[in-house]
Amino acid sequence: MEKNKILVTGGLGYIGSHTTLALQAAGYEVVIVDNLSNSQADMLDRIAAISGIKPALAQFDLCEEAALDQFFAEHANLGGIIHFAAFKAVGESVAQPLNYYKNNLLSLMLLLEKMQKYAVPYLVFSSSCTVYGEPESLPVTEAAPVQKATSPYGNTKQISEEIIQDVLKAQPALQAIALRYFNPVGAHESGQIGELPLGVPNNLMPFITQTAIGLRSELKVFGHDYDTPDGTCIRDYIHVMDLAEAHVIALQRLMEKKNRANYEFFNLGTGQGSTVLEVIASFERTSGQKLNYQLTERRPGDVVKIYADTALANEVLGWKARRNLDEMTRSAWQWEQNYRGQ
Ligand code: UFG
Repeated sequence: MEKNKILVTGGLGYIGSHTTLALQAAGYEVVIVDNLSNSQADMLDRIAAISGIKPALAQFDLCEEAALDQFFAEHANLGGIIHFAAFKAVGESVAQPLNYYKNNLLSLMLLLEKMQKYAVPYLVFSSSCTVYGEPESLPVTEAAPVQKATSPYGNTKQISEEIIQDVLKAQPALQAIALRYFNPVGAHESGQIGELPLGVPNNLMPFITQTAIGLRSELKVFGHDYDTPDGTCIRDYIHVMDLAEAHVIALQRLMEKKNRANYEFFNLGTGQGSTVLEVIASFERTSGQKLNYQLTERRPGDVVKIYADTALANEVLGWKARRNLDEMTRSAWQWEQNYRGQ
């Protein structure tokens, strides 16, 4: 019997919810584990409204071993796991390092233990381009050295990748793919799900849309004297649905035993760098709104420029980002408007 039931941890979060839809569209049954620490239960209804299928939700903290064990015991036929659940705010991780190490690492270790115990062999792990730090050459390939993390959050991603590799060396039956995301933005084309940061957003795109909708008075552009064409930082923004589809492809690669090693990792970006001012220009173009922004001082710790070399993902994974920056800003704005009822 084909095992098409997939566990998505953090499946009510930003990338998790979009990936749940992509999995459903590909015919998988999704079971979500989420403790609602940075998500809302009504995301389940939103997913159901789009796909017509309400995924099962088990609401508990992955760090609670008894609950996790019980979950695996009850779901004997899992085909694979996509693990999103983690804390992800860089600044908060500096203030609360132990919370980050405990939450992000313990949950992963328990998950790996249960994968062994219950013979669930396939894991897709949510990693980040943060592992590259400020890269020495661009575009950044997977061969670029992992640099010392500048935040506890970044360090949890590096350590997580190491933990997975070490466990897989000892347990060759387990197979994993780590996906190193660049900057995920945008929303599902329905405009019914999207990014929902708690409180004041740290990231650029939700700050732009919340400013345009009137929740924030102005966007501060952090730094305008960097060594880039317009002085603002460069990132590789990637549409969250492109990212979501990459997870399905990565999982299928494992399930169809197409992987070349039991641990693989891929950059997920478009390969295209955009400055902060280019993102703002795209937003103004697609929304028809004039954005209130101000050029201000640099944000400490920001990488100046980074964008992905996508050759490995294109050629080996067989995936390529399809949606451009205008589709990212347009969908992010549509979601913000829908969500705020405007
Ligand atoms: N920016 C602003 N104003 C804002 C917010 C962001 O100008 O209010 C700028 C930043 O300075 C940066 C760009 O917009 O140049 C993107 O910033 P984000 O905070 O959206 O994203 P980062 O690239 O800083 O962070 C992302 C992920 C993190 C990850 C990090 C690794 O969100 O999870 O990349 O570099 F750790």
